[in-house]
Order: sequence, then structure tokens, then C-alpha cells
Amino acid sequence: MAHDLAIVVLAAGQGSRMRSSHPKVMHTIAGRPMIGWVLESASRLKPRHLVVVINKQATSLKNFLSKEYPKAQIVYQKDQLGTGHAAYCSQPTLRKFRGSVLVLCGDSPLIAFDTLKRFVRQHLHHTIAFLGFRTDRPHGYGRLMLADNLVVERIVEERNATDIEKAVNFCNSGIVLVKASHLFHWLGKMMQKSAKTEHYLTALAEIANREGIKPKVGEGPEGEFLGVNTNLEKSRAQFLMQERLRHKMMQEGVTLIDPGSVYLSYDTRLSPDVVVWPHVVFGKGVTVGSGTVVHSFCHLEETRIGREVSIGPFARLRPGAVVGDGSKIGNFVELKKVTLGQEVKINHLSYVGDAKVKRKANLGAGTITCNFDGLQKHNTVIGEGSFIGSNTALVAPIKIGKNVIVGAGSVITRNVPSEAMVIARAKEKIFKHRGTSHHKRLRKKDS
Ligand code: UD1
Ligand code: CA
Repeated sequence: MAHDLAIVVLAAGQGSRMRSSHPKVMHTIAGRPMIGWVLESASRLKPRHLVVVINKQATSLKNFLSKEYPKAQIVYQKDQLGTGHAAYCSQPTLRKFRGSVLVLCGDSPLIAFDTLKRFVRQHLHHTIAFLGFRTDRPHGYGRLMLADNLVVERIVEERNATDIEKAVNFCNSGIVLVKASHLFHWLGKMMQKSAKTEHYLTALAEIANREGIKPKVGEGPEGEFLGVNTNLEKSRAQFLMQERLRHKMMQEGVTLIDPGSVYLSYDTRLSPDVVVWPHVVFGKGVTVGSGTVVHSFCHLEETRIGREVSIGPFARLRPGAVVGDGSKIGNFVELKKVTLGQEVKINHLSYVGDAKVKRKANLGAGTITCNFDGLQKHNTVIGEGSFIGSNTALVAPIKIGKNVIVGAGSVITRNVPSEAMVIARAKEKIFKHRGTSHHKRLRKKDS
């Protein structure tokens, strides 16, 4: 199949309805740009060519493609003259290609590989086929006008539709499979007519019919064809994608106590028997080992958590946090760029950054690694089994050895050798009976 197939993803539109300065297809859904979702499904078809049509000004999009999909061939559409014109821009790249071209829209992130595979299988040997979907909310989509025998006669855009046509609920997904030779022949003819007006891919239905070729039609599930033109539609796509990701997690054995309140990223990896309490955000790059419980109100990104760990409630794990098996990270703890060994305890109110904490170390409430001197970041090492008393500031760079005890309230500025105890705080003074006399004086003043 792959040999006969080229895929062209249209992604050069202005996206002006988003009212955003970013290219529309770079808006993210579950942490991945929309175009990335489309390309994931597309590349699984293993096409001979994967072409993406973009606007030259869209630098972030270009960079994203070069980095994440280096095999994709980028072509530019200079003026945004419609979907037909955009598809035609791939012609020089596909000049020698003799198979079929599957055209996809970069702004429809929910499209699944299986649906594309089925559609291509069914129609690869047809000259042209459109993929449609039925919906109760057809507003904004082109309508597929069918003849009795499941032939697409024409496609009517919402703005040109009569009331009767608007009542049709079979919509154009924007996805079409056309033999390369016909596609570029028809589009070429379209372009010749007028160079400056917009040219729509949807016009191919009528053009084909005029030449006696009957465009076929495929159908897919509504949920996969949401086109994102506005921020509102983006939020709907977010919603649907989150549902999909949560569903997959739960099928894989993860317990989400209140799935609707857990935000997942495209690459979140939770092992079976992970339990996630309500209101947890998984940013990009989080992996969690089995048996770990993430309590409510935690925010995690670029973090690797081992097995049987307890996180939160109210913990923030920032990029570079690695938490060893059996550790416990409690409430109001922030971790950044830190590697914790096994069974480390940081139970309350701490900031630990740019640090290595070896196994079984216990950091008391209010432990702070002072990693920044105003100019540079410095590292902290805390040895195996050490105990850091509450409200301690460890001024980095610093090394605390093995089995060290640090007295509460200390500010430690020098390395501490293994097995030592260190206390660095002002010595308290106790004045016997001074309390009573002080109270007496105060009462006298008051009367
Ligand atoms: C398009 C279809 C509509 C379909 C809907 C599905 C046309 C004319 N209409 O409408 O029938 O129901 O998608 O979501 O095709 N693009 C370019 N260059 C351009 C114009 C657009 O690359 O000059 C790209 C956009 O970036 C986008 C895609 O083509 O990814 C679709 O364009 P858009 O303007 O969003 O079309 P719709 O109005 O949504
Ligand atoms: Ca669209």
C-alpha cells in the first residue's frame, strides 16, 4: 500500500479565525501541535511521500517539522489561495509519483490511523474518493451532496448552501484520496482559469463528475473530524483528545479516580496500578512506575517517577526530577533537576533543586537547597541515610555525607563529612523566671 501512496497535509492557512499570532496548526492539543497529531496518524501509513504545505512565514512550524518529522517534505504556499491551490503546491515534489495522493488537513488533529487505513484500503484503486462523516452539528463544514448510488455529486460549503443543503448532515472531512495524475491535471486546469481567486479542493467533485468520473465516498466516526478553526473548537478538540487519552490509560490498568479532572499529555506514560486522584496535571514527558499514587493537585512535567512512590497532594515536579522507588514526596514540595534515590522522604514544604539525594535520606519540613547565588546555579549532594532537620537551608555548592544529622533551623554553607552531626544556628538563651517578671510589668502598664 505504502508504495502507491503519497500524503499531502495542508497546513498553510492563515488561521485568522483563531485570532492568534501563532500558526494555527502549531496550537497544541494535549501538549502536541495539531499538525503533530495528524502526522503521527499519517506516517503510520508509511506513505512513499509525506508532504506538508506550509506558509513560509511560519518559522515555528518549519522548525517543528524539521526536528520531529525530518522525513516530511516541506513545500511552501506563497499566497493562501485556498485548499485546492495548497494541494497544487505539492505538484513539483510529486511530479514523478504515479500512485494516489491522500490529502489531509493539518487542523483536524483527531483523525486516527485506523480510519485512514480503512479509507485508503477501500479506495486506493478508485480515481477519487472523499471521506465524510455524519453529525448533528454540521455547521461550518462543507456538505457532501450524494447521488443515490453513493457518488459525490458536489460539495457545498456552508456559506454557499441553501437552507435545504444546510439541513444535510453528511459533511466533508476535508480528506480526499485522488490518483496523482488526475489530481494535478484537474487542479492545473483550475489554476489556469484565474490565478488570483481562491481554488477549493472541494471543487474536484464537480470537475470529476463533468468528466464522467464518479467520486466515491467513505465514512468515518464524527469524533475524528473536528476541524479547528477557532479557539472554541480548539477547546472541544482538547476535550475529545483528553477523553481518548484517559480512556486508553484506564484500559491499560491505570486508576483515574475522577478521570475528567486529570489532564494528560500526548506522551504521558503511567504504568498499570498507578492511582491518580482528582485534579492532577501531567505536562510533557512524565513517566510513572506501577503502584505509585499521585494525590490531588499535583503538577508534573519532564519527570520520571519510580514504583510505589507517593506524590502530593500539592506537589510540583519540574523538569529533570527523578524520583526513586518507594520514595515519598509530600505536600508543598517543589522538585527541579534532582535525582532522588530509593525511599527518600521529603514530606512537607521543601524546595530541592539541582541536587542528588541518595537513598533513604529524609529531608524535614522546610528544607531548602539554596541553588542560586544570583548569577549561577550550584549543586547539592545529600548522602545516603542522612537526616536534614526542619527549616534548613543548604547553601550550594555543598555536599552532605552519609548518615549525617543536620540540626533543625541550620544554615549550612560548608561540606559535612559522613556520620557527622552539624548544627548552625544562634544558640538560644534561657533566662529563669524572666517570663513571670516580664508579664507582671506588662500588666502594670495596662492598668
Ligand atoms: C475545509 C473544507 C470543508 C470541510 C472542512 C473540514 C474547503 C474549501 N473546505 O473547510 O468542506 O468540511 O475543511 O474541516 O476545502 N489551507 C492551506 N492553504 C490555504 C487554505 C487552507 O494550506 O490557502 C489549509 C489550512 O491550513 C487547513 C486546511 O487547509 O489546515 C483547511 O482549510 P480551512 O480554511 O480550515 O478550511 P475550512 O473552512 O475548515
Ligand atoms: Ca478547517
